[in-house]
Amino acid sequence: MNIDIITIFPEFFDPFLETSIIKRAIDQKIVSIKAHQLRDYSHNKHKKVDDTPYGGGAGMLMTIQPLDDAITQLRQKDSHVILLSPQGKKFTQKKAIKLAKESHIILICGHYEGIDARIENYIDEEISIGDYVLTGGEIPAMILSDAIIRLVPGVIHEDSSEEDSLQNGWLKYPQYTKPSDYKGYLVPDVLLSGNHQDISKWREEMRIKNTVLKRSDLLKSIKKTDAEIKKIEEIKKNLKKV
Ligand SMILES: C[S@@+](CC[C@H](N)C(=O)[O-])C[C@H]1O[C@@H](n2cnc3c(N)ncnc32)[C@H](O)[C@@H]1O
Repeated sequence: MNIDIITIFPEFFDPFLETSIIKRAIDQKIVSIKAHQLRDYSHNKHKKVDDTPYGGGAGMLMTIQPLDDAITQLRQKDSHVILLSPQGKKFTQKKAIKLAKESHIILICGHYEGIDARIENYIDEEISIGDYVLTGGEIPAMILSDAIIRLVPGVIHEDSSEEDSLQNGWLKYPQYTKPSDYKGYLVPDVLLSGNHQDISKWREEMRIKNTVLKRSDLLKSIKKTDAEIKKIEEIKKNLKKV
């Protein structure tokens, strides 16, 4: 998996690329990720990459020429080009799973008031990380890269991402570590029992309960078994009693 990021602030990515799991994935050559300075592609003698918007209005827009050159030079046969934008479709775990199967992704970070709208001729899709406006696309690019890279085979233990919240639609069950009693806050007995069957049954129930309690909005898009539907109804009935 290769990721190329086009930005006017490549230094933003240094700590991200030099820390923890992302660094290890790069060192092990499972992924290659590089931030490119957009100004290097500008034909302007001052390396300018922005200008005033036609029709007037506040702020500056990123011009199309440097982006055209950068994308054209970085694009490969099977590249997938993404513009980070608050106007895009909202990023989800489902999307991360799909993008982790790409071999080459180009991420374009906007800045200022955004980008000349003709950028639409150079991209495959526009992705937003949420319904709010940030000053630039660098943090969204890190969010996408992080969520995608950890799903690339070999980066983390696959069992661990398989059970992650949202991976199959559900939230994960609650987890605890030592000590088993912290100031009277106790770890559920079943987790200390050593009985793997009981633990797995408890975790099954708790992932359903967690989803019902914290993110019931997710339930409608999850394909459920009859047993899961029954469990959801039981949890909801018990909630009404409280
Ligand atoms: C200040 S924003 C521009 C917003 C633009 N004026 C608009 O109203 O759509 C500057 C850049 O930050 C990035 N950005 C801001 N919010 C974002 C979000 N929620 N998701 C992804 N990228 C975002 C985009 O790359 C955008 O071009």
